[in-house]
Amino acid sequence: MALSSARLQRRVWDRRADTWDHEGAAGLGDVVDAVVRAASPRPGLTAVDLGCGSGQITMRLAEAGAQVTAVDVSPEMIVRLQENADSEELDGVVPVVSPIEEFGVASASVDLVVSNYALHHLRDPDKRALAKSVLRWLRPGGRFVIGDMMFGRGLEPRDRVIIRSKVVALARKGPGGWWRVLKNVTRFGFRLQERPVTMERWQQYLEEAGFSAVHGDEVVAEAAVVVGIKR
Ligand SMILES: C[S@@+](CC[C@H](N)C(=O)[O-])C[C@H]1O[C@@H](n2cnc3c(N)ncnc32)[C@H](O)[C@@H]1O
Repeated sequence: MALSSARLQRRVWDRRADTWDHEGAAGLGDVVDAVVRAASPRPGLTAVDLGCGSGQITMRLAEAGAQVTAVDVSPEMIVRLQENADSEELDGVVPVVSPIEEFGVASASVDLVVSNYALHHLRDPDKRALAKSVLRWLRPGGRFVIGDMMFGRGLEPRDRVIIRSKVVALARKGPGGWWRVLKNVTRFGFRLQERPVTMERWQQYLEEAGFSAVHGDEVVAEAAVVVGIKR
């Protein structure tokens, strides 16, 4: 199940590799900044970036002196990441092509696991399982930082505001936008490729896994950052 979902993501993101950094989610720059602040990188830190794309987070961590294992299911994204790391002459980046669902590192071997705008692609049981795996991978004192679109399917007023604003923004783009509204209604409504959960749900997954000091902050309309610490 998980693999076929990841294969689909690979196909989708190989095609979007050229455009995501310029035409990504609204307010992406603010979310990247918030994730990097919460990750608090420093020289010598060992980190894993899950769903790294072309490296918006990885590059910032590596520039601060961290050693980053950067994981993505899309080979095209990993090619761009490698080009970016090479052009900045950053040697602390280790790119890995893998579905997040199949990736692992040794127990207590990293200080930071971070992910930005990627985990909403995972199925909910895989999100939950990932929280447990990440706790195992982290050294004591290590942290898990998740930036992502975080909203539900319309039960809460905040969900409805976010969904309405996404629909209005797309509809304003004319027939191409209406087509995307239709596609997104299918993807989000049936949770085919886009499976965001609320900030509260992510906090619950981290607490259930055994993280301490779990907290979340809304960053822009649809996106939030959730952090948990391994004691
Ligand atoms: C929206 S982009 C975000 C990229 C980057 N983290 C950023 O902040 O710009 C989502 C990334 O997650 C990757 N991805 C989606 N599902 C994945 C999975 N199951 N395993 C590994 N990577 C995945 C995609 O290939 C894509 O590069």
